[in-house]
Amino acid sequence: MGKLGFVSLFRKKKIESPSADHNSLARVIGMPSLIFFGVGGIVGTGLFSITGIAASEHAGPAVILSFFIGAIACAFIGLCYSELAGMITVSGSSYSYTYIAYGEIIAWMVGWNLVLEYAVGAGAVAVSWSKYMLSLLEGFGIHPDQRYIASPFETIKLADGTVTHGIINLPSMVIVIILSFVLMKGIRESLTLNNIVVFIKIFVVIALIAFGLPYIHASNFVPFIPENVENQFGHFGYSGILQAAGMVIFAYIGFDSVSSTAQEVKDPAKNIPKAILIIIATCAIIYVLFAFVIVGLVYYKDLVGDAAPVATAINHTPYVWLQPVVKFSILFGYIPILFLLLIGQTRVFYSLARDGLIPTFFSKTHPKYKTPCYSHIFFMIMICFLCAFLPMDILGNMCSIGALFAFVFVCSGVIILRRTYKDYPRTFKAPGGDIIPAIGVITSLVLMYSLNGLTWTMMSIWLTIGLIIYFSYGYWHSKLNKKLENI
Ligand code: ALA
Repeated sequence: MGKLGFVSLFRKKKIESPSADHNSLARVIGMPSLIFFGVGGIVGTGLFSITGIAASEHAGPAVILSFFIGAIACAFIGLCYSELAGMITVSGSSYSYTYIAYGEIIAWMVGWNLVLEYAVGAGAVAVSWSKYMLSLLEGFGIHPDQRYIASPFETIKLADGTVTHGIINLPSMVIVIILSFVLMKGIRESLTLNNIVVFIKIFVVIALIAFGLPYIHASNFVPFIPENVENQFGHFGYSGILQAAGMVIFAYIGFDSVSSTAQEVKDPAKNIPKAILIIIATCAIIYVLFAFVIVGLVYYKDLVGDAAPVATAINHTPYVWLQPVVKFSILFGYIPILFLLLIGQTRVFYSLARDGLIPTFFSKTHPKYKTPCYSHIFFMIMICFLCAFLPMDILGNMCSIGALFAFVFVCSGVIILRRTYKDYPRTFKAPGGDIIPAIGVITSLVLMYSLNGLTWTMMSIWLTIGLIIYFSYGYWHSKLNKKLENI
């Protein structure tokens, strides 16, 4: 075993030909499927739950602007992903890109932080799922003990009017366990299922917009930007809009996974960037209209602590009969998002294990089902623990900061690779020189900055744990380390 050397912390991978990592995949995905795949995996908790928290605690009705800011940031970042996806076609997405652009230690930090995006993000979706489940049951006159559907950090009101704290969120654990076992047995990503889900989600959105629009009260939009409270950053005012924009990045997460389909898409040079922009624009339109109707129906202060704002909004219309249909649709619509995040997480750990940065245990597959079942079990336990004891806003914010961290390095990686791999063929190059990646870096940093202190503390703790693991294991077992030592 050699000595720890500063230079070797930045040992870089070279761009591998796709055949080294993948079997050649048929180019079968066309533009419409790509757009459906993107929208299906994106629209979810960020819209159906976080809108309420962002409006009631940070931006007021101006949460509409926060969604708009989020969309602009994601458009720049999305173009950077498109450029790298058309150039580096191995699996691992942002982790693999940063390994080539920056070197190992940065790649490790990005890969480690992707746990925040995927596993912690899955926790947030599971918590939101449990809140809509509770709302559905209550609609049928069933009133379960809410202390078992809330984390100890949440204040809840029991049926007898007592205000208390939650104990554990059991239903969110149940959904994570069920879906993890399904994934361990293996499912094929089904385009048909995905298409059904997209239709369902679009139905929920259109239903709420169409049925809600006539009942909007102009007075709910006043003040549009509530005054900042006691000079606290993020507590309404302009800083509140910005903090809410950082939070609603969660709602756009998933667009980055479109770039990872680069090898299966027909004419990727043309289709991937176009699809990413269409997906972000579609989501932005849906989100802005939806947020407009939610805060137009319900005064933003009445959304405090409401993790199921769609149900509350419907209560402000005469169409209360829509409630069960919409809640069922949301519960069903969350399933593909959870699949996407759980699969994404095990794929990232598969890549880390393949590179020797974590034990090979995470890349071992089940002898019969051929799925990374140990990795699934590990994350199932971790996510259960998270969603049992943490509230959705904390989980959602950790997911956003984890994703934004990766975005910073992906966008700046574009600038670096344009110099280190100047003449390497790219199927797509973001236009305008380095302006687009530079704006991508700046907007990601600003949105990270806007997130609250607790989120930063959690990320710092997570990164510190990551660095301890890297220096005690990853650095020494890295495949690249062994390869370079053998030269
Ligand atoms: N974008 C996904 C959601 O909002 C993660 O649920």
